Amino acid sequence: MNILVTGGAGYIGTHTLVELLNRGHGAVVIDNFTNSRPESLRRVREITGKSFALYAVDVCDEEALSRAFSENAIDCVIHFAGLKAVGESCERPLAYYRNNLDGMMSLLSAMGRHGVKKLVFSSSATVYRSDVPMPVDEDSPLGSINPYGWTKFMCEQMLRDVVAARPDWSVVLLRYFNPIGAHESGRIGEDPSGIPNNLMPFITQTALGRRPALRIFGNDYPTRDGTGVRDYIHVVDLALGHVAAIEYAEKNAGCEAFNLGTGQGYSVLDLVGAFERVNGVAVPCEIAPRRAGDPATVYSRVEKAEKMLGWRATRTLEEMCRDAWRWQVKNPNGFAE
Ligand code: NAD
Ligand code: UFG
Repeated sequence: MNILVTGGAGYIGTHTLVELLNRGHGAVVIDNFTNSRPESLRRVREITGKSFALYAVDVCDEEALSRAFSENAIDCVIHFAGLKAVGESCERPLAYYRNNLDGMMSLLSAMGRHGVKKLVFSSSATVYRSDVPMPVDEDSPLGSINPYGWTKFMCEQMLRDVVAARPDWSVVLLRYFNPIGAHESGRIGEDPSGIPNNLMPFITQTALGRRPALRIFGNDYPTRDGTGVRDYIHVVDLALGHVAAIEYAEKNAGCEAFNLGTGQGYSVLDLVGAFERVNGVAVPCEIAPRRAGDPATVYSRVEKAEKMLGWRATRTLEEMCRDAWRWQVKNPNGFAE
């Protein structure tokens, strides 16, 4: 298939592009580089030896999107483009609603104009209410506690409504748990700007000496060791989940949601311990107060994706730690020169 990948220059987008191209699919990328650099796409070309067209435009710009559709025969879209920092979304809610909702609406409108009916959407585990029992399955009640999560919730609703009106459309909602790690080549990986919000980039930057210590947000949660538990998934497994999803969308109409996780919960201390053990480096830590809005435990039920997509995550926590560290060591400044 020929796939339009919005946000293709970002962390999950680049890893997915590699797996799509390796699988023999064609790609056209849209990215405005608001949270990425063209160098990441150059490296995707280097890893795969394949080329693809790039439109350096905003997904909210429907005319620019329309050009990408009319100049390429697109079969399916994967929509990664969006702003994703939970804390920033609380400070700048309108920027998040504007970017993530306008982007979704412009894309759906351009798809409609060009007769493209298959879409895979980057949703998130944050669309589940935080008080649901764990592991969480796809039928659990939805809700959010921050503007970022609400944008994902609203995009999902928009997509369910579009499919209700147009039953010949095929939409796959992928609810990611916590992607970490990097491609095993060490050429692409997560490249957060400024001080990382997420745990793994903070761990790798601390191990490298760029940060004095990892602050562990709370050790008094009702978990095994008191620290927060999450379902960490290797970004390459997540990327392969997208390949399975577009192949599912090719054959099935309707709107379906799938969790993409491993089904395993690990605590902050589990992750730090595995990282130190596998890589033989120290990660200085200090205990800090809980971070506002963090639930104690989040992990997924994965049976639906296994059954319907024929996909499951296979990479271990150790592989996630090893690959994240390889990327960080080889690229101490990420994709910057
Ligand atoms: P990322 O920031 O690395 O990638 C997003 C890409 O979209 C970036 O290259 C950015 O420049 C681009 N972009 C943003 N707004 C755009 C716009 N208006 N027009 C064109 N391009 C635009 O993030 P990621 O981690 O790769 O996440 C990809 C998607 O997955 C996002 O929608 C995110 O919300 C979702 N998601 C991520 C996580 C995670 O932990 N990384 C978890 C759940 C869901
Ligand atoms: N944590 C720390 N110190 C840090 C950073 C994080 O102790 O410096 C802890 C958090 O308290 C939490 C765990 O590490 O217990 C994971 O935190 P992350 O910030 O890495 O991830 P979250 O689970 O908070 O959220 C992530 C993404 C969201 C996405 C969600 C899906 O940031 O965008 O996963 O589950 F929606």
